[in-house]
Amino acid sequence: MDRDKEEKLIGEAIRARRRAYAPYSGYAVGAAVLTADGRIFGGCNIENASYGASNCAERTAVFKAVSEGAAGIEAIAVIGGPAAYGDEVPEEATPCGICRQVIREFTDPAACEVIIAKSLTNYRKTTLEKLLPESFGPEKLQRQNTQRNT
Ligand code: THU
Repeated sequence: MDRDKEEKLIGEAIRARRRAYAPYSGYAVGAAVLTADGRIFGGCNIENASYGASNCAERTAVFKAVSEGAAGIEAIAVIGGPAAYGDEVPEEATPCGICRQVIREFTDPAACEVIIAKSLTNYRKTTLEKLLPESFGPEKLQRQNTQRNT
């Protein structure tokens, strides 16, 4: 992906982060996924008074994409940090293990770019394969009703 596309995706993650609902942790996260049909879906973390019912930003974005019928995930950008920080955060927020597995379901891990941002222009790139090596994915289950998104 070229820098323009990367910054567009990060920009959507930053916008989503402004909508984070994180009154318990005070940690606000935004994510944005780029799907194979060129659409971008943003998502924020959404906490709950019953803590276990909370959802991470990455899963919010992935579930939005899938529920809108988008094709496979090509890239995801993530930015997170204490809510007191605005659009620039001091440290990286890397996707949690559950989110890595959820992204895995809808992507080719070697091809899926994961952008971990601290601001619109300060970021690094890795791949889902690197974050989740030797993963278990849908192709292992040869059921007829397994949805193929890649
Ligand atoms: N969180 C995310 O949204 N994404 C991550 O990858 C790490 C954690 C959220 C969950 C919770 O609302 C808050 O950050 C603190 O864990």
